[in-house]
Amino acid sequence: MTTENKLFSTMLSCMHEGVLVIDHHSRKVILHNRAFFEVWKIDRTTINESDDFALLGQVLEKLREPQSFIALVENLYMSPEKSSLDVVELKDGRFLERHSEPFRLDGEISGRIFFFRDVTEVTLANLKLSDQKAVLQTVLNTIPYSVFWKDLDLNYIGCNERFSRDCGRATEQIVGKCDFDMPWTNEESENYRAHDRKVIESGVPIYNVEESQVNSDGTHTTVLTSKVPLKNSAGEAVGLLGIYTDISEFRENQRLVKEHETMLVNAAQLSSLGEMAGGIAHEINNPLSIIKSSTRLFNKILTKDPIDKKMVKEVVDEIDETVDRIARIVVGLKNISRGAEVDKNECLLRDIVTDVLSVASERFRSKGIDIIKEIDDAALDAPLYANRIQLSQVLINLMNNAFDAVEVLDLHDKWIKLSIQQSEKQLHLSVEDCGFGIPEEIRDKMFNPFFTTKEIGKGTGLGLSISKSMIEKHGGKFSYDEKSAHTRFVIQLPKQD
Ligand SMILES: Nc1ncnc2c1ncn2[C@@H]1O[C@H](COP(=O)(O)OP(=O)(O)O)[C@@H](O)[C@H]1O
Ligand SMILES: [Mg+2]
Repeated sequence: MTTENKLFSTMLSCMHEGVLVIDHHSRKVILHNRAFFEVWKIDRTTINESDDFALLGQVLEKLREPQSFIALVENLYMSPEKSSLDVVELKDGRFLERHSEPFRLDGEISGRIFFFRDVTEVTLANLKLSDQKAVLQTVLNTIPYSVFWKDLDLNYIGCNERFSRDCGRATEQIVGKCDFDMPWTNEESENYRAHDRKVIESGVPIYNVEESQVNSDGTHTTVLTSKVPLKNSAGEAVGLLGIYTDISEFRENQRLVKEHETMLVNAAQLSSLGEMAGGIAHEINNPLSIIKSSTRLFNKILTKDPIDKKMVKEVVDEIDETVDRIARIVVGLKNISRGAEVDKNECLLRDIVTDVLSVASERFRSKGIDIIKEIDDAALDAPLYANRIQLSQVLINLMNNAFDAVEVLDLHDKWIKLSIQQSEKQLHLSVEDCGFGIPEEIRDKMFNPFFTTKEIGKGTGLGLSISKSMIEKHGGKFSYDEKSAHTRFVIQLPKQD
């Protein structure tokens, strides 16, 4: 054996790859190495290694699909100049990579070398990976979000079905493209890319940013977007993942709810003013009759000679004061019945209390119900940032409830008490009446909208629920005082900072 041949056969026997060389013309095995038997797991002791037929038989027996193996080999014989590289699956669950090259002697193709390598581990890992990818893609396609991911150049590298539907094009037409190739306006693309860059450069995700898009038909779509930087296992930025969901419908519903809420508040306002209508008539009738009797008295004075100037002055003063009282009632009524305002402003409890008492007092007086005022005068001028109409509304609701409760009581001294105090940061208001508290079974339900114990046409069941929500919208608390010996509702309002 020459040195070269020795070297060659040593190399061949040391190789981990199985080698098999077939003669092109006779199709006989010319050469094989030790690793060939190891890779194929063929027991060398049981076969005659030079029996090609026996060797091929052993190989075919181990294959999961021998037919396609033979077909490929046949194909290679037909095109002897071709190379091939593929993976074959064995019955024992392993995978072998099969690589073949023609080999030439003096420029002529004289045979074919096959290399076999066990690639089970890598193949199984790849299969597992593609299974996981399929699961991931299914998850991505199922979630109610549009998802995309981009590389560092902000080109799309993948997306889910929902995103591709949003774009109106297939995933293959998205991958590799940038925002300027997508069906959005240049301005939108610039915006998206500016956000993307910010996320990638800072490495900080952005969550739930509301973005508005104009659709081709002129309608608006509101989406909630989150963007997260993508990093490799070394922690280096490799791109970004974006996820968004269409919240147009949700926003529209919110708008409708708000609209209905405002309508409801308006309706409740009208109804509580309606509850007071009888009282308001009193408020105005009473001073009107004072004026009427003053004018009668005036006429009488005029018949006397000389005219009693002192008496004239008294009557005129009385009329003047009464007109002022009517004017105050009208102003109060006007202030309270203004359409529901949404805004808060700087205001004073003093004005609110004046409005409410000017329209409500006479009603209580006419039924012999005393209004006790336990008011810290300084609290009336405390800085307050509030919706004046809404706060008047709350007080009117409470006073109407107190009136209804007290009116039917068989007591000699009937009263309601309006108390206004302040602490460092808060204003404390309460409306108490001489009733005996509210039974527990009603207490549990009275804050529910439409809960009423009053007869049809009298109560709407909205007073307490709307009052509570109005006070809470002011950052305050509205509650029933269970400790009071009488019936007492308490309001806490934050003062303006
Ligand atoms: N001061 C009170 N005294 C006794 N019961 C009250 C008082 N305030 C409220 N309630 C009870 O709470 C219920 C709900 O009040 P509210 O929401 O104002 O609706 P409405 O006055 O239209 O019935 C009343 O029907 C009544 O049963
Ligand atoms: Mg009520």
